[in-house]
Amino acid sequence: MTALVKPLFSVPFQRDYDFIDRKDMFSQIEEQLQRQYRVSLCGLGGVGKSQIAIEYAYRFQQTRPQSHVLWVYAASFTTFLQACHDIARSLKLPSCDEPGTDPCELVSKWLNEEDHSWLMILDNADNAELFFPSVGSDSPPATVTQPQRSLNDYLPSILNPQKSLLVTTRSRFVGQDLAYGELCVEVPPLSPQEAMDLLHLKAKGAVGSFDKYSTERLLDVLGYIPLTITQAAAFIIRNRWTFQGYLAALEKDKQNLTDYLSQELQDPRRPRDFPNSIFRTWKLSFDHILAQKPKTATLLSLITMFDPQRIPEKLLRPLTEREVDFRMAIGTLDGFAERRVYCIQLALAGGNQIMDELFVISLDSMGLYLLALL
Ligand SMILES: Nc1ncnc2c1ncn2[C@@H]1O[C@H](COP(=O)(O)OP(=O)(O)OP(=O)(O)O)[C@@H](O)[C@H]1O
Ligand SMILES: [Mg+2]
Repeated sequence: MTALVKPLFSVPFQRDYDFIDRKDMFSQIEEQLQRQYRVSLCGLGGVGKSQIAIEYAYRFQQTRPQSHVLWVYAASFTTFLQACHDIARSLKLPSCDEPGTDPCELVSKWLNEEDHSWLMILDNADNAELFFPSVGSDSPPATVTQPQRSLNDYLPSILNPQKSLLVTTRSRFVGQDLAYGELCVEVPPLSPQEAMDLLHLKAKGAVGSFDKYSTERLLDVLGYIPLTITQAAAFIIRNRWTFQGYLAALEKDKQNLTDYLSQELQDPRRPRDFPNSIFRTWKLSFDHILAQKPKTATLLSLITMFDPQRIPEKLLRPLTEREVDFRMAIGTLDGFAERRVYCIQLALAGGNQIMDELFVISLDSMGLYLLALL
């Protein structure tokens, strides 16, 4: 038996009173949680998954004050372990401070006990290898940065109306696997109106006027992604610049765009030690692909060399490569992608021999520049 404790709320961020409500997101989360008690939010880095999870946690606490709300930052084994340790201590789980005790095991057992009611948020579960290590890979001995077991083993096995799990991840595959095969709730970029509202909120006090044409054009260049918008606003405010000036700089050339969007500005709503510039954020996704699926990374690098509209499959697939490996690589890439910004699909244009076997890759200019950088 564990000592009675008041409901724990371990979300490490304050509520954002400037939160821009995202169309349909909360109703989709509620609907999936009611049906199967688990849901994954998937989407590009910086698209706003964690902010939705934070806001959901606060709303949940208001409607179910007797439930625990447990936040587990799952970007690495170390952060997962730290979160379990903090939760075990806050819940006063027996022997949590004794040497040799595995806090993840303790928390895992507690989660499965019958009499507790909780929502667990697994944030940034981006690294597939931590949750689903490749079959046949040599399991390294446990170290400070390497778990002995797959983190999936520590996740609650019992979910029901009193026990639910909300995951945020950049990988659609991880999201689906953690949600027992259920489709992810895809988090898209903001709508033009949501993006405009966010820019106005974050750039309060900017010099010069918000002329409609420049702001619309700027949002277009920024791809309607919240992180790019908040970083752009922070840059403009910090350097006492105008929207028009900033836009002109982004549009000057590819190098300038890269330089500006690589700037790291503080974002108090993101974990420390986590990249805030959109380039570094997306590079992290690429690094995961590179470490786990080198073939896919090669493919992505190759794709960036072509006109993204029409790439013959023959150019992407070496003659010696098995078709099944090629399909898997394309699938992995698609799993990390977000449809609007970067989508790969097989185009079979009926009847036209030359068009057969072409990949149509639709990228907006932002996606293209980012891929070019990779
Ligand atoms: N709905 C929103 N309202 C206000 N600001 C937002 C909203 N969504 C995102 N932001 C801003 O954009 C930043 C990036 O969002 P967030 O960290 O949630 O992205 P993410 O999808 O979780 O990215 P990553 O995959 O890198 O973890 C936030 O720190 C915040 O400043
Ligand atoms: Mg996040």
